[in-house]
Amino acid sequence: MAGPAPQEPIKTQQKCIAIFALLCCVAVLSALIFSSVDIWGDDDGITEENCSSDCRIELVENIPEDHLLLMDGRPRLPLSAGFHMLLDQAKRSVEVVSPVWSLNPWDLETTPSTAKQGQLLFQRLLSLKSRGVKLKIASSLANSAELKTLAAHEAEIRFINMTALTRGELHSSFWIVDRRHIYIGSADMDWRSLSKRKELGLVLYNCSCLALDLHRIFSFYWQLHDRDYIPSIWSKRVTALYGRHDALELHLNSTEASAYVSTSPEIFCAKDRTRDVDAIYQVIQSAKSFIFISVTDYLPVVSRTSRGILVTRYWSPIDEMIREAVVLRGVKVRLLISFWKKTHPLTFNFVTSLKSLCMQLHNCSLEVRFFSHKEQKEDFQHGLNHNKYMVTDNALYVGNHDWVGSDFARNAGVGLVVKMKNSLTDRGVTILEHVKAAFERDWRSRYAKSLQGNKDQHGKYRNSQHNKIHMDTKVENKWNEPLSF
Ligand SMILES: *[C@@H]1O[C@H](CO)[C@@H](O)[C@H](O)[C@H]1NC(C)=O
Ligand SMILES: *[C@@H]1O[C@H](CO)[C@@H](O)[C@H](O)[C@H]1NC(C)=O
Ligand SMILES: *[C@@H]1O[C@H](CO)[C@@H](O)[C@H](O)[C@H]1NC(C)=O
Ligand SMILES: *[C@@H]1O[C@H](CO)[C@@H](O)[C@H](O)[C@H]1NC(C)=O
Ligand SMILES: *[C@@H]1O[C@H](CO)[C@@H](O)[C@H](O)[C@H]1NC(C)=O
Repeated sequence: MAGPAPQEPIKTQQKCIAIFALLCCVAVLSALIFSSVDIWGDDDGITEENCSSDCRIELVENIPEDHLLLMDGRPRLPLSAGFHMLLDQAKRSVEVVSPVWSLNPWDLETTPSTAKQGQLLFQRLLSLKSRGVKLKIASSLANSAELKTLAAHEAEIRFINMTALTRGELHSSFWIVDRRHIYIGSADMDWRSLSKRKELGLVLYNCSCLALDLHRIFSFYWQLHDRDYIPSIWSKRVTALYGRHDALELHLNSTEASAYVSTSPEIFCAKDRTRDVDAIYQVIQSAKSFIFISVTDYLPVVSRTSRGILVTRYWSPIDEMIREAVVLRGVKVRLLISFWKKTHPLTFNFVTSLKSLCMQLHNCSLEVRFFSHKEQKEDFQHGLNHNKYMVTDNALYVGNHDWVGSDFARNAGVGLVVKMKNSLTDRGVTILEHVKAAFERDWRSRYAKSLQGNKDQHGKYRNSQHNKIHMDTKVENKWNEPLSF
């Protein structure tokens, strides 16, 4: 029997080293992967399999006191009441993302009563810990006094450096309560959102399926804490659960519907997550008869500074979608934009260009109105219509972004798409009718005005010879004739 060869121990040693090295690799790899894993602590075991999709939905609005808007008698929950309702429900956790933390105004003297709602909300957030409810906040503000106060009251706060990540800003504004109830809308954690500014949002109760998915976006933000790059490997726990191709089937106040959340910018879209722009595309694309859009700013342009020079480009996606819907599908479009201190002058050119599309076309209707409340010298946000939504004959999109190219390209935001199952007639009064009514109320109000010097409706220039869309090239020369007015 030959004894072990003299090289044997050395071989074993080499094997050991190889195995050790392999183990190290595995360990480093898993550390890399799991570094982006959320510790799944404070849910109570709700999973995609047993989550609830039997939801209650509520439209929440903030209408400034001095706005004379004709209410249509529909029940409508004030935004502040919606936030308090959500806090009433909270048993375990409240997760908040907001671009601004300014619930307490600094100069109390000029704004005594209007600031009350903001202060009240702030106090309630502070008192969450006494009820054993965790407050978690993802924010891009490095030096917010309010966040410091909340942190001193045991709120967990994570900083996202948007400058380093996308050179953009965090515009996302949403709440998740107990992974069951959610809020998405135009309002920020700004006292103005609860008093002086016109806001619109949605609150969904008992909707854990959607809340779980929105929480995955929250987890994504949570993992960006103090990073200056976006990891290329992400845990499965931020992968989207639902999207435009596989929306969540749910009940909203016992009406059948489907829904999903979307995000921007593109690099913030984890696996399977639908981009905001694609969500908007789907909603515009599926509209049959009308599209009503209410946004603060509309500007199909992307600007960025490259080596100190400002480069501005036309950003066509949404502009194109609207043109196609209006001209080729005969969908009636109304665009309600805010006219305020920060309205970009090019807005009027783009809007005029859109309107001119309908010249000499039958069944073509694109109307634009500017919403403007009397401006106050001390605060130009007073009376601002801060809404960011779209409603059509069968769907709804409520987002965080204005329809400005730069926003979608660089800034973080989320959107919620809700699509109704049945046709308008046989489903009774749904969230769509509520939002549509809110739009029509604003559209007909004294604050919504057409473009100046544009009393003539382009729709009136109808010429019997040009009453059809001829895609045929044979008639192309007709289009080149001088217009007859
Ligand atoms: C959902 O399922 C998980 C296991 O898959 C379980 O731990 C949890 O208790 C369930 N939750 C509810 C509310 O049924
Ligand atoms: C965010 O990132 C930028 C660019 O990388 C850096 O200059 C800045 O100091 C960072 N901000 C904070 C608060 O860390
Ligand atoms: C959620 O559902 C539970 C039980 O199904 C119900 O008791 C509760 O009132 C609901 N919450 C809201 C806010 O509708
Ligand atoms: C155009 O409008 C008329 C009347 O408003 C309507 O009967 C017709 O179906 C419309 N045609 C198209 C293509 O939408
Ligand atoms: C859904 O039901 C609640 C009451 O349960 C009501 O407050 C709310 O307005 C309803 N939403 C819609 C869209 O009808």
